Amino acid sequence: MRAVRAMALLAASLALAACQGKKAEGDAPAKSAAAPAADKILVGHVGSMTGSEATFGQSTDQGIKLAIEQWNAKGGVKGKPITLRTYDSQGKPEEAAVAATRLVVNDKVNLLLGEVASSRSLAMAPVADGNGTPMITPSSTNPRVTKDKDKVRPFVFRVCFIDPFQGTVMAKFARNDRKIEKVAILRDVGNDYSMGLADYFLAKFKELGGTVVDDQSYKAGDQDFKAQLTAIKNKNPQAVYVPGYYTDVALIARQARELGMKQPLLGGDGWDSAKLFEIGGKAIEGSFYSNHYSPDDPSPRIQEFVKAYKARFGVVPDGLAAQGYDAAMVGFDAMNRAADGSGAAIRDAIGATKDYPGVTGIITIDANHDAVKPAVVLEVKDGKSVFITTVAP
Ligand code: PHE
Repeated sequence: MRAVRAMALLAASLALAACQGKKAEGDAPAKSAAAPAADKILVGHVGSMTGSEATFGQSTDQGIKLAIEQWNAKGGVKGKPITLRTYDSQGKPEEAAVAATRLVVNDKVNLLLGEVASSRSLAMAPVADGNGTPMITPSSTNPRVTKDKDKVRPFVFRVCFIDPFQGTVMAKFARNDRKIEKVAILRDVGNDYSMGLADYFLAKFKELGGTVVDDQSYKAGDQDFKAQLTAIKNKNPQAVYVPGYYTDVALIARQARELGMKQPLLGGDGWDSAKLFEIGGKAIEGSFYSNHYSPDDPSPRIQEFVKAYKARFGVVPDGLAAQGYDAAMVGFDAMNRAADGSGAAIRDAIGATKDYPGVTGIITIDANHDAVKPAVVLEVKDGKSVFITTVAP
């Protein structure tokens, strides 16, 4: 196993080196990589299929599968059937890079989908760019995923909004709707998404006249949050912003209640999992978070998707499933329009996506390779998420 991994990494660095040599000529991809197979379309997905964020990968994978089945039922992309190959990132950035490399260099996928977590998409992005394979992340929201410093990553796209917007949505909701004046923040230091979103929320909340009374941190996988929560409790905020992933957030909620804290917790899309309610139970009730979509939205496009997904997988699709579905749909639509099967042509077609009617909103890819879309605010009530409002960009 070790040897395989080392070889994959070596292959990745060689491919990267080859491309870097070409960079001087512009953004042309390394021509040898990702040569499309003539008779079929191969799609690669890197997702956290196991680990403490397993529902992220599993839901996304199911959303992608549904999109593939629907396209194949119509005859595939340009008459070619689509097949899916999924590799597990195990929730680790290093594994995400290895998986992306296997898919791009060894399997020569036509399109790379994933990851959910920004830290892991950041680890995959150089592999996509370095080999000229188009990549669409369904739901990574950190700005740096599609932009390396000031430069837009040529082959990397997303079909979701970004965190400067998501942070603003929750800051406005807290200040303007809930009239909250004092908040505390509890962020995950090892997580690019959590760190970024905490900063964007903080800046907007202050700009709106609010005060941030404490800014504490933890590391994903920690089990004991009592020291940070006690410090926060002593500052007496009216709410605590916790932009982390569901397993940690649920534990944090439980320990906050054990300490007698009654404040609502506020968070972002990283809360989106049925496990949040399973692990958090009563402790997470009355808290609010921003997300990509609500399955309760009566819009026919959403209800049609919810119905098809439930019929296929037996559960209501969460936001990840909807984002995975939309990422795949946008990718196939682009491949169908692309001048040819090359990575560059597919890249150009994805970049030209305009007003695509996604389940999670109308998708137009902007100059930064991001989608400009609305967000929803949800409340945790009776063990599920209840739609509160939609916020336009
Ligand atoms: N936006 C999160 C990130 O960038 C991932 C996520 C999206 C998690 C949607 C849950 C739901 O890391």
